[in-house]
Amino acid sequence: MIYLDHAATTPLRAEVLEAMLPYLTGEFGNPSSAHSMGRRARAGLDEAHERVASRLGAEPREVVFTSGGTEANNLAIKGAAWAGKARGHRLVTTPIEHHAVGHTMRYLEKFGFEVVEVGVDRYGRVDPDELDAAITDKTTLVSVMLGNNEVGTIQPIEEIAERVHAHKGVLLHVDAVQAAPYVDLDVGRLGADLVAIAAHKFEGPKGVGALWVRHGTHILAQQQGGTQERHRRAGTENVAGAIGLAAAYDLACGERPETNRRLKKQRERLTAAVLTVEGTEATGHPARRLPGILSLIARDTDGSSVALGLDLEGICCSVGSACTTGSTEVSHVLSAMGYPPDEARGALRLSLGRTTTDAEIDTACEVAPRVIASMRLGSAALAADPLGQGVGSAS
Ligand SMILES: Cc1ncc(COP(=O)(O)O)c(C=O)c1O
Repeated sequence: MIYLDHAATTPLRAEVLEAMLPYLTGEFGNPSSAHSMGRRARAGLDEAHERVASRLGAEPREVVFTSGGTEANNLAIKGAAWAGKARGHRLVTTPIEHHAVGHTMRYLEKFGFEVVEVGVDRYGRVDPDELDAAITDKTTLVSVMLGNNEVGTIQPIEEIAERVHAHKGVLLHVDAVQAAPYVDLDVGRLGADLVAIAAHKFEGPKGVGALWVRHGTHILAQQQGGTQERHRRAGTENVAGAIGLAAAYDLACGERPETNRRLKKQRERLTAAVLTVEGTEATGHPARRLPGILSLIARDTDGSSVALGLDLEGICCSVGSACTTGSTEVSHVLSAMGYPPDEARGALRLSLGRTTTDAEIDTACEVAPRVIASMRLGSAALAADPLGQGVGSAS
């Protein structure tokens, strides 16, 4: 199989497994235990905080390990919204966020929060001026993702952060889950207050994430129990997972320039090949985008049928995003970008990763256009002859 679904998840890297293994076997102590085994687990966990913090240009105490990107986003948004409730109930976001953000916002509406969505342009970019205009004295939190998981567009977070912080007391949360391996998250430069990442997007284990919380930022813990993670996330820590995240993030950051260069070239080659098919259009921003995500619309096709056709030919990819697979709704991201439902239905996402080889792209360049073209022909024939009675055929 050729795996072109790295935006959904990535394989666990051998060096990462190696770093985790001692803590999944002999070193199984609880980091809260006072004895030597507990202290060794604590030392491993402390080192994981330090490694992640150093790659973020942050302090180890600012990093909270979670059960993944979804929990990190929930903790940031609910934690900040509730902590700021006495000051205001208005939350500002965009319509292209991952459901881990969008559905969290919907949930908060049930408790009296007002959620305002600032639109995006055809490329999926937010206008910092429009965002600025949506912030009132009742606003406590703004949430904007860094890299979009469906179309790959990167938001101008530094500019957005400047506008947000011109309003006293307003926090900026950034869902960087999809962007983390490809964009430098130096938090001093980025200017956010809360940043979420997830290990499985950069060859770390699934079910482990981290939330960076700027020192002095008050968030309310979203689960009650012990005092772990400095009272911000109760529950015995996933020591091996945290160590895996730290090791994977360290490697991804160190190799980023080289990985990004290679992925961009491979993606451009594959994009050129698929766009030879009539009726196809690349989606997302042409330049300000994650290097490995190729998102397109093939008109007069159904994305799930194309993805199935590609799967049968040995290529794994996604329809828009993995999280919406199985649902009949068209992508909320493409809708917000102005694509009508009949076009958005033909959305496809091929996402490359660090382990994608040039030989795999060679094959994909041959297979993908052929499969997409055959699906378009199939749907054209179906439209002309819905009952299969030979109407409109040459014979
Ligand atoms: C942008 C974005 N945010 C959040 C998530 C959720 O992360 P997790 O699957 O680790 O819960 C994803 C996962 O695809 C994502 O792409």
